[in-house]
Amino acid sequence: MPTREEEKKEGPDGSNTNTNAVTTLHHHVYVRSEDHGWVPGRVIRIHKEEAEVEIDKFEDEQAMLSCTTSAADGDASGNKKETYSVDLQSYTGGVLPLQNTDDRGLLMDYEDMVDMPYLHEASILYNLKQRHLEEKPYTRSGDVVIAINPYQWYHHLYQPDQQFYYANKLLWDDYSKNRIVIVTPQLDIPGQPSSAEEAHPEHPAATPKEIPPHVYETSTLAYKGMALWGQPQSILVSGESGAGKTETVKICMHHIAELQHGPYGGNNNNDGTKIVVQRVLDSNPLLEAFGNAQTNRNDNSSRFGKYTQLQFDRQQQASSTPFDDQQMTPAKLAGSISEVYLLEKNRVVHHDRKNERTFHIFYELLAAPGNHQTAIWEEGLKGSTLDSFRYVGMTTTQKIEGVSDRNRFLKTVKALEVVGIAGDLRHDLFRSLCVVLQLGNLIFAPDPTDDDKSVIASEEELEKLAALMGEGQDVLRKALTERTMTTNNEVYKVPLNAVVAKESCDALAKDIYEKVFLWLVRTINIATSAERNYQPNNSNNKRRGSVGKKTKGPKYGVIGLLDIFGFEAFRVNRFEQLCINYANEKLQYKFTEDCFRLVEAEYKEEGVPLDNITYYDNTDVLDLIEGKTGLLAMLNEECWRPQGNAATFVNKALHQNAKSSCLIVNTMDRISFGVHHYAGKVLYDADNFVRRNQDGLASDLKECALRSTNPIIAGEYAAATEEAKAEEQAAGRSTNSNLMAKTVWTKYKTQLSKLMADLKETESRYVRCIKPNELKAPLLLEHRLTINQLRSCGIVSSVTISRSAFPNRMLNKHVLTRFGGIWHRKKKGEKTVQTASSLDKLWKAEAEALLSYALMAKRFKDPTSGKPRAGFVVGKTKAFFREGALEYLEAERMKGLDRQAAKIQRAYRAFLEHKDEIRAAAALRRRREWHQRKYRERREKRKAEEGKWKAALAQSEEEFEAHLAADWQKFSETMAEEDRLFKENLEREEIARQAQADADNQQWKEKMEREEQEWKSRMEEAAKARSAPDGDDLAKVEAEIAALKKRLQEVDLEAGEKVKESTEHLKEARSEKTKLDFKIDVDATQEERDLKRECIFAKAILEERENFIEQLKREQKRLGKMFDRTKAKKAATEESNKTLTEQCKTTSVKFERSRRQSITLGQGIESKQDVYKAVKERNQELHALTSKQDEAYSLLAESKLELQHTMAAILEIVQNECKDEELRSAVMRINVKTSRDAYKQMKLVQQMQQEAMKNRKDFSVSDLDQSWAVH
Ligand SMILES: Nc1ncnc2c1ncn2[C@@H]1O[C@H](COP(=O)(O)OP(=O)(O)O)[C@@H](O)[C@H]1O
Ligand SMILES: [Mg+2]
Repeated sequence: MPTREEEKKEGPDGSNTNTNAVTTLHHHVYVRSEDHGWVPGRVIRIHKEEAEVEIDKFEDEQAMLSCTTSAADGDASGNKKETYSVDLQSYTGGVLPLQNTDDRGLLMDYEDMVDMPYLHEASILYNLKQRHLEEKPYTRSGDVVIAINPYQWYHHLYQPDQQFYYANKLLWDDYSKNRIVIVTPQLDIPGQPSSAEEAHPEHPAATPKEIPPHVYETSTLAYKGMALWGQPQSILVSGESGAGKTETVKICMHHIAELQHGPYGGNNNNDGTKIVVQRVLDSNPLLEAFGNAQTNRNDNSSRFGKYTQLQFDRQQQASSTPFDDQQMTPAKLAGSISEVYLLEKNRVVHHDRKNERTFHIFYELLAAPGNHQTAIWEEGLKGSTLDSFRYVGMTTTQKIEGVSDRNRFLKTVKALEVVGIAGDLRHDLFRSLCVVLQLGNLIFAPDPTDDDKSVIASEEELEKLAALMGEGQDVLRKALTERTMTTNNEVYKVPLNAVVAKESCDALAKDIYEKVFLWLVRTINIATSAERNYQPNNSNNKRRGSVGKKTKGPKYGVIGLLDIFGFEAFRVNRFEQLCINYANEKLQYKFTEDCFRLVEAEYKEEGVPLDNITYYDNTDVLDLIEGKTGLLAMLNEECWRPQGNAATFVNKALHQNAKSSCLIVNTMDRISFGVHHYAGKVLYDADNFVRRNQDGLASDLKECALRSTNPIIAGEYAAATEEAKAEEQAAGRSTNSNLMAKTVWTKYKTQLSKLMADLKETESRYVRCIKPNELKAPLLLEHRLTINQLRSCGIVSSVTISRSAFPNRMLNKHVLTRFGGIWHRKKKGEKTVQTASSLDKLWKAEAEALLSYALMAKRFKDPTSGKPRAGFVVGKTKAFFREGALEYLEAERMKGLDRQAAKIQRAYRAFLEHKDEIRAAAALRRRREWHQRKYRERREKRKAEEGKWKAALAQSEEEFEAHLAADWQKFSETMAEEDRLFKENLEREEIARQAQADADNQQWKEKMEREEQEWKSRMEEAAKARSAPDGDDLAKVEAEIAALKKRLQEVDLEAGEKVKESTEHLKEARSEKTKLDFKIDVDATQEERDLKRECIFAKAILEERENFIEQLKREQKRLGKMFDRTKAKKAATEESNKTLTEQCKTTSVKFERSRRQSITLGQGIESKQDVYKAVKERNQELHALTSKQDEAYSLLAESKLELQHTMAAILEIVQNECKDEELRSAVMRINVKTSRDAYKQMKLVQQMQQEAMKNRKDFSVSDLDQSWAVH
């Protein structure tokens, strides 16, 4: 289903309008396919307007990703391939859309599709598919997150660590690093200019580019925008039924509820806030119970649109710094308000039997525990089954897989309690649902007396209903089977036939359900809205109020979450589809505007002039639908007109909008018309438009409802009546007219306008949900289904806007690496390169130089003016290419690669031809290199060793010298010491000896003196005695004197000897000293000699080593010579190689010649084979003929033999029995003749036989050749 926009701007395939583009050989491209949308292929041949594309025969659509390399290039995949001829003219711009593959032909994975060099429908499809198969459900397209429904929960993606990861990366990191200054909530005060715009540029958001795409990114950025910059936010989630919108909204909502806990996930919530958060989150399942149902497409399909505004308190952050209090968050969830759109109330009374159900709540009610049922409506509910009520019973699905209606009921009851619906109120709510169920059980039959009237055939059911509603049975019967009509003058009753009565009964059921649903939404809003419930921690009692009571205060920070039905196109489309598609047109308009703003921002950021951006916006469709004379104005007019009908409406609508290019006239059917929406053409069946738009409920039924004892029903109808009266009075119309009441369309338009106005206030972020298959199967992506959704959700159109002036872009650094090969840098761009300073500037300058050079030969023209213009613009980091420029560059690059491939092929072929020589030469070269290497190694080793030796020698010499000097020093010192000691000893000994001698002398002297004294005294005594006359005594004394004298002499002698002895001692000591002196001298000389010997020895070693080095040098010289010789040999080999190459050339010429000859021969052989075949056939024919001939001959021979036998028999008879001699001789003659003849004949036959045999043998091709030639 091509979109309007694509048909206008791009053609049906979403590829770019590349008038300048080219399709080149070997390009990996996409080819359109009836069954698969796009299939990957590879261009293998091009003839003018036709390309031959090789396409892999994939097992199934699932296996299609990128095409493998050609078999010729050595396909390893083993995939079979088919070649298709493609008419290039059937592709927009005559060019096939290119794949984003790497050099191996494998599809590249882009997290952000804006980065894809080739951006078109096919590349978007395959990128999403590849990621889906790799279990990556989220992909970015600029600021839009595309979420493919995985149909299986990737739990790891939604764990708290992931929530924190995105929050930290995009919010808290900046926040805690004080990079962001919070814009204070004064901004929110109405009437004050918002400073949010000023805050943005100063504090740019952390870029999500570096982190994998996720909806958490959207929720974090929305929270950041709201909380830190004070900018109201909205997250618009769209997609078709079952695409995952509701789940995505829930995922975002839960993430935001976590974010508001602050960077530390703290418990900043007081009890009051906790309740608010719980109510906000619980309101989701509650609305799902009443507004969701099982459908063919989704077990939990939301049958209404919803816009939930989460409200945040930013007041507490007014002047605080976020870092001084860990409890602090920039904005706290304070409440929420939901708005609902277009509940599919028709589902109350009708749904498909197969796999479809009505709203969940009815099944929950019927599965409720007995006590609940008794309390709600014992007579009707207790013991009932699905079949007890017609509205629910008509289904094949009794139960949704994995879901228990009973448990759901209990959960719903709890959730109702959370929002304050409990006790009687809850019972009233459930009883109102019972009224709806019971209305379905009424059976209307034609009145037996008059077909135009009807009767209620199920009295019992009517009785139950009357009891339930608190209404009289008869009153109810009348209201259901008659209608009160009011004209200006009178009031009268009109009976209703059975069909109309049933319809109006169903209308009442639908209307009551819708009103109950809206009542529930309102009640939830009362319980969750910040204005009524929120009590800030630090408010100065400013906004404190009791729960549910509205308080006044400054506006809250808002994040709106829109979960709305996507674009719909069925086989038969009714009024509801037009309403849904109108809402999508409105949202698409906003989306387009936002996309354009993004493109503007991108161009600005890159410093690229913003010119020529033309894009399709859908104002024409919006005009057609909502304009003054638009479709819906005409419809309203028709609804207000008495007897308004579909045919008149269509007629008027077509007439009034005849000039609209988006209106499609259906000439076959006058009560249908078509609209060319942005997402495709839709044909509407206008049959029920008037009735659905009026949606009027007969006043009799309204009154019944108004009188009901059920307070919810009665209250809602009372409020509606009041409202209608007020409106009518305001409009000055007559109060009783049903016809002038607000139509569904008017109410819806007002709602939508309000929604759009609300959204306009916000900064919008988009999540596009895609349903990959109808089977709800994981890891399966159906091409056509996905393509349709990509078109419907505006992804393709957003791409178109972003690429309208410059369809392709590439980072400057990538331009340089990819196309560097086609740039002769030496010729161009040198100057700019040298002047560039920063890296970005350098790349920009180089890319500019490269592209100017590479695109020099290509001319680009302005399609409108026809004037020449540049094919590219280089921005700060990216190069922007006009249509066809990048393809041209790719083609040039491919040509370059082809040339190189040809070179490689040439070299390889040459290699194949001269394989042996080349290998021998290579072996020789390797050996030579090996020798050289070895030689070099050895030389290096020797050099190293030599150095080592030299160093060791020098060191040992030095050490030796030092050792020697040290030894000598030591020795001298020892000698000096010993000398000194010896001298000292000697002196000491002499002194001792002297002292001893002196002491001895002294002793002796003293002794002598003592003895002299003694002697003297004895002499005196003796003298005395002599004087006394005694002769004996004298003699005694004289003897004593003589002894004494003798003794004296002895002592003298002794002393003389002692002196002699010590003198000799002295002499000995002196001679000893002289000897020692001499010995010392001798020892020193010996040591010196030893040292000298060692020195000589070391010198000998040194010499030996020098000799070795000499030897090495000689070796080196020898190897050098050898090297020269090898060089010479190499030159000779090269020479011979050259000759060989020459020879090869001649050989190849010869080979070519012989090849040609062999072709000719082959042709000859072929013709010979033909001849041989003919000969063979001829031979077979001849064979057949000869065998026939043989048969004939043998028959002949046999008959001849028989004849002979007969003749012999006749002869015998004649000889034996014939008497007539003459006759006998005649017979004999005849016999002889006959025998001769027979013999001759036999011979002849034999001869002929032999000849035939010979012929058969000799018959050959050449004979035949000749015979043919003759013929
Ligand atoms: N992110 C998701 N991960 C796993 N399954 C999902 C996810 N989103 C949706 N689904 C599945 O798809 C079904 C339909 O999703 P829902 O949000 O109800 O669709 P929609 O609201 O667009 O009609 C869900 O019931 C669920 O089974
Ligand atoms: Mg939904």
